[in-house]
Amino acid sequence: MTFPATRLRRLRTTSTLRRMVRETQLSPTDFIYPLFVVHGRDVREEIPSMPGVFHLSIDSLKQEADSIAKLGIPAVILFGLPAHKDPVGSENFAGDGIVQQAIKAIKDAQPEMVVMTDVCMCEYTDHGHCGIVRDGQIVNDETLDILQQVVTSHAEAGADVVGPSGMMDGMVKAIRTALDESNFENISILSYAVKYASSFYGPFRDAAQSPPQFGDRHSYQMDPANAREALREARLDVDEGADMLMVKPALAYLDIVRRVRDTFELPLAAYNVSGEYSMVKAAAAKGWIDERKIVLETLTGIKRAGADLILTYHAKDAAQWLMEG
Ligand code: PBG
Repeated sequence: MTFPATRLRRLRTTSTLRRMVRETQLSPTDFIYPLFVVHGRDVREEIPSMPGVFHLSIDSLKQEADSIAKLGIPAVILFGLPAHKDPVGSENFAGDGIVQQAIKAIKDAQPEMVVMTDVCMCEYTDHGHCGIVRDGQIVNDETLDILQQVVTSHAEAGADVVGPSGMMDGMVKAIRTALDESNFENISILSYAVKYASSFYGPFRDAAQSPPQFGDRHSYQMDPANAREALREARLDVDEGADMLMVKPALAYLDIVRRVRDTFELPLAAYNVSGEYSMVKAAAAKGWIDERKIVLETLTGIKRAGADLILTYHAKDAAQWLMEG
């Protein structure tokens, strides 16, 4: 059947019809909201390169968690800014570290909220790399020992899901082993399985004060040109025991989101990263784009590409807009 019998415009005639045949539904339950937690009291300081995103102290988290829950967003992922940095990133696995405190504060305020943690070393180390540095190299296997201590301390503090993001080989297996040995077999792993060495992380590195102090991350994060390698990364993490996979960043990598979705059965997350956020905010502030429409279109695109879950700094605004309909 072809034109004139077939007219695809028929089902676009009214907004009700369009709603009925819509293939992708965006919902606040798709979102995971990133939070940046800092030491101090009464801190709620806007991050200059990420308007609308704040550094929050522990005492500000109750109010924040309440407002996130009210919007129907089920989960947060925590990033911590430590008081001191050192070569191994000691605060990362300290019982009273900033993230450990934040986990407890959020669980106190909102016991039902899923609390995820980013498991990486770059915010905590003085060299700003995601692993132990020896003779200018980022060494893999010694880093795994540290990551094991980090996830155990996050689990002890009450985290539900840990998200290793350092792109070390074997990180998922090491973490699963450490959790199981400490009787945390019900803590899930959301692996940043496919994480590219991306310039879209720029604003985040300001926010988390985590830029590498020498060199770059190309010896551990993936080359943006590679797609088959993404499937190898994901497959290894599946085999090592990941519960969920992530592709990061999202927008320049929607083909990767689709390929990972089509190849693996695990729940899939995509990280709509800081640079993607800040570009929208900057253009919106100039009046060049309609922020609300651009954000909802973007997030719908990420979901249509195959993501079940979206980590996004737009989560609160988007949830509000979706509620307003
Ligand atoms: C830590 C980490 C980074 C991001 C999430 N976890 C930065 C990096 O790898 O340099 C980036 C998030 C964003 O840009 O929003 N390894």
